[in-house]
Amino acid sequence: MAILITGGCGYIGSHTCVEMLSAGYDIVVMDNYYNSKPEALVRIKELSGKDFPFYECDIRDAEGLRRIFRENKIEAVIHFAGLKAVGESVRIPLAYYDNNVGGTVVLCQVMAEMGCKRMIFSSSATVYGTGNPSPLKEDMPTGAVTNPYGRTKHMIEGILQDLCVSDPEWSVILLRYFTPIGAHESGRIGEDPNGIPNNLMPYISQVAIGKLPRLSVFGNDYDTPDGTGVRDYIHVVDLACGHVRAVDYALTHTGAQAINLGTGNGCSVLDLVNAFVTANQVEVPYVIAPRRPGDVAVCYSDPTKAGELLGWTANRDLTDMCRDTWRWQNQNPRGYDN
Ligand code: NAD
Ligand code: UD1
Repeated sequence: MAILITGGCGYIGSHTCVEMLSAGYDIVVMDNYYNSKPEALVRIKELSGKDFPFYECDIRDAEGLRRIFRENKIEAVIHFAGLKAVGESVRIPLAYYDNNVGGTVVLCQVMAEMGCKRMIFSSSATVYGTGNPSPLKEDMPTGAVTNPYGRTKHMIEGILQDLCVSDPEWSVILLRYFTPIGAHESGRIGEDPNGIPNNLMPYISQVAIGKLPRLSVFGNDYDTPDGTGVRDYIHVVDLACGHVRAVDYALTHTGAQAINLGTGNGCSVLDLVNAFVTANQVEVPYVIAPRRPGDVAVCYSDPTKAGELLGWTANRDLTDMCRDTWRWQNQNPRGYDN
């Protein structure tokens, strides 16, 4: 039996493939390479010392999916595949609804048809929206999202919960990620954003290496200790390990569970810049810029439920996150294009 990993060549998917293989799971990976490169697969195999089937396939392609299920015994799916750029989702919302929502519906239809009813879904802290105080807990209201990307995550959570109500054989874990950063400690896999990064950590590392002149800090007038936005940064390898635990859980339980994957610690933009400078002995020039539309001031998790249900806690700290990001950036200045 194997676990199908959709979007397995991407940033979080590639790290999860490595952790799943080292935990002893067999995996099958599919990706349409929309935001990733075949080189990621080469590196996953190199790091794990294991081989696995790969399919270049789109989650909206029902016949392509059926073939994967026919050719492999799939007992659960970790579903990463989707579009994730917030600004782009405002410009081209239909592409986001089609890919993320439509794609997930097709995937679930094929899974049900093939008798595979266990899914780990990549949700996001963004579903908590603007109305809740941190630390954010799973039973707080969701849905006051500020952009189409966030709405796709909230809609998919609802669809998967409806599915579990309609058929008690389904097992679904909605993993609400806080802000993943860092890279595998080998420096062989990491985040390889196209063009100018939207997110803070890849931006900092591209400034540090000289690709970009300076960081713009989006707002220093928030109601936070230093005025800059506070987030719960989590090492991508800790996040990947959370998926292994979620698969263990999904194989032995049914029903839907939303679970935060975060550290429980809030860190400001300037805290992260300072941690990066100290950990790596580099310079990161910055200027203060206007707030980014749609941002909340503070967003960090209460990770208690992940501890109780999955036996998982994050154990890598900010220094690890900064050091590992820098090793990846330094060893792969052009990402997977080297
Ligand atoms: P990523 O873009 O690196 O990985 C997504 C992968 O899915 C890519 O390899 C892409 O080529 C593939 N893909 C996209 N559409 C596809 C389709 N229709 N069919 C097949 N493959 C497709 O992103 P990531 O950072 O690894 O994120 C993975 C998941 O986690 C996404 O669903 C994302 O929304 C979610 N998430 C990410 C973050 C984050 O900060 N990175 C935070 C919360 C949630
Ligand atoms: C953002 C998305 C979120 C998505 C996540 C991962 C928004 C509103 N939210 O979350 O939906 O799930 O990315 O893709 O876009 N910052 C700067 N300068 C920069 C970049 C960021 O100051 O150049 C600040 C931001 O204002 C924020 C913090 O850094 O306070 C972290 O930003 P980012 O890395 O984009 O992550 P999130 O805001 O957590």
